[in-house]
Amino acid sequence: MQIKKKILVTCAFPYSNGSIHLGHLLEHIQADMWVRYQKMQGNTVFFICSDDSHGTAITLKSKKEKITPVQLVKKIILEHKKDFKNFNILHDNYSSTHSIENLSFVRKIYFILQKKKLIKKKYIYQFYDTKKNIFLSDRLVQGTCPDCNFKNQYGDHCDNCGSTYSAIQLINPKSVLSNSIPKIKKSEHIFFDLPKLELILKKWIYSGSLQNTVLNKTKEWFNQGLRPWDISRDKPYFGFKIPGLIDKYFYVWLDASIGYISNFKNFCTKNKIKCFNDFWNENTQCELHQFIGKDIIYFHTLFWPAILHSINFRKPSKIIVHGHVTFNGSKLSKSKGLLILAKNWINYLDSDSIRYYYASNLSSKVEDIEINLYSFREKINSDIVNKIVNIAARSSSFIHKYFDGILSSKIEEFNLYKYFVSSSIEIECFLEKKEFKMAIQKILKMADYANQYINDTKPWSIDKNKSKSLYKLQQVCSLAINFFRCIMTWLKPIMPNLSIKVEKFLNIVLNFNTLQNPLLNHRISKFTILYKRISLKEIDVFLHDIKKSYF
Ligand code: 2FM
Ligand code: ZN
Repeated sequence: MQIKKKILVTCAFPYSNGSIHLGHLLEHIQADMWVRYQKMQGNTVFFICSDDSHGTAITLKSKKEKITPVQLVKKIILEHKKDFKNFNILHDNYSSTHSIENLSFVRKIYFILQKKKLIKKKYIYQFYDTKKNIFLSDRLVQGTCPDCNFKNQYGDHCDNCGSTYSAIQLINPKSVLSNSIPKIKKSEHIFFDLPKLELILKKWIYSGSLQNTVLNKTKEWFNQGLRPWDISRDKPYFGFKIPGLIDKYFYVWLDASIGYISNFKNFCTKNKIKCFNDFWNENTQCELHQFIGKDIIYFHTLFWPAILHSINFRKPSKIIVHGHVTFNGSKLSKSKGLLILAKNWINYLDSDSIRYYYASNLSSKVEDIEINLYSFREKINSDIVNKIVNIAARSSSFIHKYFDGILSSKIEEFNLYKYFVSSSIEIECFLEKKEFKMAIQKILKMADYANQYINDTKPWSIDKNKSKSLYKLQQVCSLAINFFRCIMTWLKPIMPNLSIKVEKFLNIVLNFNTLQNPLLNHRISKFTILYKRISLKEIDVFLHDIKKSYF
């Protein structure tokens, strides 16, 4: 018997200052599909996430809405939870980094880092907005690039020439908040001594936890030389205060990553589960799979494992990095007017369709995924309606008309069923390795096979008046229904809504471990429409309404 695994799965925490959009959904859907697959295999899986609730952006947003940051955080978490639920993304726990547990872990960890002499103090120079009385983070200053003279660049890097620099090097700097010219001001900051952990990290990146491109990217950073990480921010800041210091706060990224730990603690406490240490101790056999986007690799392949190592906690088993979602060739972003929100999508289209679309484009590599709603529509209609659901539509009517809804008691062409079900090994292997695109390709091949079988055996032209041919008709249609059952079992982690309908139609629970035995002498329900074709009009209206909301 296969040993069952214990797995903790996380997604990057969405900020509490904005809505969930199709970019977030890619990651959470990818993780959710994998979690559902693992759960179907009988493994113990905990899937956790949280809102990332600290930082300047949240203060600014709450000011704009004339509420406190805490009120904003409380409001946004409800919205986020609703959005995820609408897409059948089932986190086992969803909390906020602005929590007692997180504060307690952040403090404890800070003391350990201090004790281990991994904390340093250093004076830094930063832009300060004298009108708003606030230090300006890199995103809050704009100016001309010191390298190529391109205007309107942010304080960390130039979009035009790609060079990176410190904000105070910008020519003609301006505060994004007040449009005024910021002053340079000195302040003492707290640093985590990342270079001290260089050897440990260099070893860890070869542990098999990273995809090749991610490993190469991380190696580049080693070549450039690791630098101490500034983990403090000056007031005013919405976050946790640094003990022993006046008006200094922990940088949001420090408490966000520690949130992975404290969220799980919160989950264990709430559910009286005593496995917190099992999952986090240094020599654990439990797995930790963390899904993130390609823009936050640095934090997850360097800072995060460095913190974990320093506190004698386990490091991630896998960091799974995905690419961006592009829409008509451009990255989804608010500034480009291309932000499709989860709540907009669900008002016009269904959740299974985007889950299936993402699955058919997701590999284990870091690749961008392009959404063109017209090809999206064609793909869904052609694969789901024409190919897959059609197998059931074409065969079940005969089962009801001539056999009272009962499948045959035997499958004469058992070798065909055996051949069909044997693809499960390959498909399960693809799902295990997060190669969703390959899984879908194989599933579609099998759907073609099933349709070809129906075309060849032509149940519609079998003579219904002779008992021998009637037996043949029941055989053919029952085998086709069994093919359909296999396909829908493979698709269950990907399309939960459709699967529920199919389970009602087939009167079973779809599961991998029962596939070897076909459904025999089994009553199925009457066929009702399992999946509705997406019309051209629906896409046109959706696109029209999204564009309208931007201009
Ligand atoms: O990039 C982001 O959206 C961050 N809020 C992700 C944080 S992940 C983790 F560290 F919490
Ligand atoms: Zn430049």
